[in-house]
Amino acid sequence: MTLKFDKPIFALAPLAGLTDLPFRGVVKRFGADLTVSEMISSNALVQNNPKTTKMLEKNPKETPYSIQIAGSDPNIIKRAVEIINERDGIDIIDLNCGCPAPKVVNNLQGSALLTDLKKMATAIKTIKKYSNKKYTSVKIRLGFEKKNHIEIAKVCEESGADFIAVHGRTKVGRYKAPVDYDAIAEIKQNVKIPVIANGDITTPEKAKWVLDYTRANGVMIGRGAVGKPWIFKLMKDYILDGKEDNMPSDRLIGEVVLEHFNQMVEYYGEYGAVLFRKHLHTYSKGKKGASEFRQFVNNTKETDILREAIKNFFFR
Ligand SMILES: Cc1cc2nc3c(=O)[nH]c(=O)nc-3n(C[C@H](O)[C@H](O)[C@H](O)COP(=O)(O)O)c2cc1C
Repeated sequence: MTLKFDKPIFALAPLAGLTDLPFRGVVKRFGADLTVSEMISSNALVQNNPKTTKMLEKNPKETPYSIQIAGSDPNIIKRAVEIINERDGIDIIDLNCGCPAPKVVNNLQGSALLTDLKKMATAIKTIKKYSNKKYTSVKIRLGFEKKNHIEIAKVCEESGADFIAVHGRTKVGRYKAPVDYDAIAEIKQNVKIPVIANGDITTPEKAKWVLDYTRANGVMIGRGAVGKPWIFKLMKDYILDGKEDNMPSDRLIGEVVLEHFNQMVEYYGEYGAVLFRKHLHTYSKGKKGASEFRQFVNNTKETDILREAIKNFFFR
């Protein structure tokens, strides 16, 4: 599958614990152009951890599909890539250079690679050399403590990355510091490979502004899609077709929630109903009776009872 950047790309950001296969399937229904697996530990993959191996699976609608790996040891990355190579239907291997979680950073992975650009370059080159997938990409932040975003982006490009996604914060900025869109614009001016802008893009208007301001080749949406998978359609309608206010009807929202729930149960078994709680919280936000509904959901495990409760709440 060829990734065309002749018009802006609307990508779903990887969110560990949220953007699993069922959620990505729902997001595809609303036109997301690119979906990425949750972060997959290359160590765990190489050790044949069954939960990790399952995370490689994709919904057939996910084309192009990207697998994001975390790692820094070139031998382990090579073996992880070889495992991924055995699977069809994967178009991209992405290297995580942004995760701030201590257990990742302490293993010199994720955002820690931004403190050692030689190691980062070796990791990217290793993927590029051994992957049989069409593209290699990197998801970066602007730096670890200080911003050295242009240097980081150039190392990605020189190491063979075909495109990059840029979360416009440093590691120290975690998920709350103001996103520096000027820095994303600077990266765009300094590399030739496509750049996807990421961070706090939650509305069609903001997406348009970010694309205009940074000249990025696309936007990547994370938290803005949780509880609102239709955001991709709203953004694409607004930016590509000039259509406004295409909010889905209550009926469609109900159908989406039910479809998402059913997919969770199909994918995870009965436990999927429990895992769905966090999504029900966001889907019900702002609706009448939401706090009673949440309380009920938090205390119910039975799939059939939850399905009925969803129907009663969303199709009233
Ligand atoms: C709960 C959560 C999990 C995340 N998991 C990942 C991950 O697995 N891989 C990754 O590259 N980024 C991860 N991120 C970062 C997001 O992909 C994204 O860069 C960040 O949330 C900013 O974008 P947003 O404001 O659109 O959410 C995660 C963020 C959150 C909040």
